[in-house]
Amino acid sequence: MSDKVILTGIKPTGMPHIGNYLGAYKSLIEMSNSHKTVAFIADLHALNSVHDAKTVKQHTYEIAAFILAMGLNMDNAILFRQSDVDAIYKLNTFLMNVTPKGLMNRAHSYKAMLEKNAASGDDPDNGVNMGLYTYPILMSADILLYNADIVPVGADQKQHVEFARDIAEYFNRMYGNVFRLPEPQIGVDAGLIPGLDGRKMSKSYDNTIPVFAPESELRKKIMRIVTDSKLPDEPKNPDESTIYLLYKHFANAAEIKNLRELFENGKIGYGDAKKILFEKINSYLDAPRKRYEYLMSHTDELDKILADGAARATAIANKTIERVRRAMLG
Ligand code: TYM
Repeated sequence: MSDKVILTGIKPTGMPHIGNYLGAYKSLIEMSNSHKTVAFIADLHALNSVHDAKTVKQHTYEIAAFILAMGLNMDNAILFRQSDVDAIYKLNTFLMNVTPKGLMNRAHSYKAMLEKNAASGDDPDNGVNMGLYTYPILMSADILLYNADIVPVGADQKQHVEFARDIAEYFNRMYGNVFRLPEPQIGVDAGLIPGLDGRKMSKSYDNTIPVFAPESELRKKIMRIVTDSKLPDEPKNPDESTIYLLYKHFANAAEIKNLRELFENGKIGYGDAKKILFEKINSYLDAPRKRYEYLMSHTDELDKILADGAARATAIANKTIERVRRAMLG
């Protein structure tokens, strides 16, 4: 058992999709067999964009069920809802006071909003609430509260984890060695999983493959993957095909090599390649889907697991808050 702590979070803003799974959860779950693991549902982070309590609650269950169904090792892991641990609100306030405003101005998600507003001629801060603007501080609080060493995330979250490290360094320089310095871990070939249209798979582009779509919907989604117009007997570059790029994460080495050769030698059409991809993902998800469906129809069990996780997370978090209070307030 390693003494490194692995941590990651996910916003309950929609059904978890294949990009979330491959970008962060596949490796978190693998590492949970040999590491202390902290997994949480970042419901406070959802609040800057989702303003309906029922929706947040429903997605919170879906995400908890997803993480458990995919096999998080609960002997070594805790799973909880971010908002259930009071210490998070405290650390957020403490960190506000060591975080330079300039750092927030550089955050990709805030800058993307500024650019969108500039393009449409709107006020620069149109649609930007303080939850969005200070998002990286709350995320740093998540990471530092539980003494995380390694944070598996997709490439889109790398900057946020680096900010957490920067903020920890500012703090430690001012107040002594209070925080561990976390590091992002981006999966090989999984930093940016493409969606149905070839752009990054993202709820906001409506191009996702939900992990637990019913079989018929999964098939439909996969058949909708956008391709170029090459004919079956034309050679194709597998590395530019979403079909191959997704297949790589679910198949074994011999299967990957085989599909690669079929692409390169013009021995397969996109329609048949999509069928192979569907079969592979569908069989991979078969047993987890059953566990997921069971948990979603037993949300009382999820409530218990989340409550137990919150109690254990609180015990860790309160110790961190004690150290921070002593350092900042004496
Ligand atoms: P969120 O909810 O947007 O996504 C959850 C995780 O999925 C990854 N991801 C992807 N990875 C590869 N390819 C994609 N197409 C793709 N789409 C999503 C994300 O990078 C992320 O790792 N701010 C975070 C949640 C969070 C968090 C934290 C993460 C809150 N506190 C502390 C780590 C540590 C977010 O919005 O992720």
